[in-house]
Amino acid sequence: ASVALSCNFFGLKSIIFMTRDSYLKKPYRVNLMQLAKAIVYPSPSNATKCGRKLYKENPNHSGSLGIGMGEAMEFVRSSSKYRLALGCMSYYAALHQTIIGLETQAQLKSVNIKPDIMIACVGGGSNFVGFTAPFIGEKLKKKNKIRFLAVESANIPSLTKGTYKYDYQDYYGYTPMVKMLTLGHKFVPPQLHSGGLRYHGKTPILSLLVTKGVVEPHSIKQEDAFIANKIFYETEGVLAAPESGHAIAQTILEAKKAKRAKKTPAIIFCLSGNGFLDLAGYAKVFGLHTTELYHEKKSSNHE
Ligand SMILES: Cc1ncc(COP(=O)(O)O)c(C=O)c1O
Repeated sequence: ASVALSCNFFGLKSIIFMTRDSYLKKPYRVNLMQLAKAIVYPSPSNATKCGRKLYKENPNHSGSLGIGMGEAMEFVRSSSKYRLALGCMSYYAALHQTIIGLETQAQLKSVNIKPDIMIACVGGGSNFVGFTAPFIGEKLKKKNKIRFLAVESANIPSLTKGTYKYDYQDYYGYTPMVKMLTLGHKFVPPQLHSGGLRYHGKTPILSLLVTKGVVEPHSIKQEDAFIANKIFYETEGVLAAPESGHAIAQTILEAKKAKRAKKTPAIIFCLSGNGFLDLAGYAKVFGLHTTELYHEKKSSNHE
């Protein structure tokens, strides 16, 4: 959605290949992009040769971020007029998101809080790197002793169970290889409400930091992320995205651990997105009222 919005600001046309699973589960995110005049394809799509092949084999294919990247790459290669923008694991996405870390740094300074633990969820890794990079820079210069916790989905365990090697960023092998912690570019993740975490690898800088022991890798199950988000909503009045719930669940675990040890660390987590566009997922997980049920009830009341 950010790419669509930015393109619209600058009068550029945007074509988005959105993971089919997310396209179907998060229709309002599609609408958000369409409002910014984007053309949005559910990937695998019929718009590219590589997408058509997978789609023909299985029209219910859930897709993956790696498949969407491959389709976008094929599209871009078809004309010199097109340019590629990868949202999730590229260096430029991580670099742009350092605005989050710089802002966090300034805000913490203004209230005189020094973080002990920093936590963010990880899809491709850009929001984690953006959030923590300014603080990691200080740690490497021995100016702080912060623990950095990168939290992935237990269903896509590239940080905790992946191999550190050169791999393609996309499913088809169109993009240059990068050295990263990966489950292999042919890995197709299971369907999840946390669609933004369904990526086979993690951005090279984060993979290196995990391999060097600067960042701790953790994984959280989706059901625990939803429970954590419900607690956060009930206590803070903010409904987080399912992806962000992985960071919140880890934050709750760390807070409980500290409480048992009678310690009071400053724990800062990144609230990477809101869940108000993901209410269908919440309804499904918690068995809540849906429009279909409402209409069913209405007609039975009339009878
Ligand atoms: C709400 C939310 N949080 C986190 C992520 C993962 O971000 P990254 O790929 O930067 O790790 C996503 C990805 O789409 C997301 O939608």
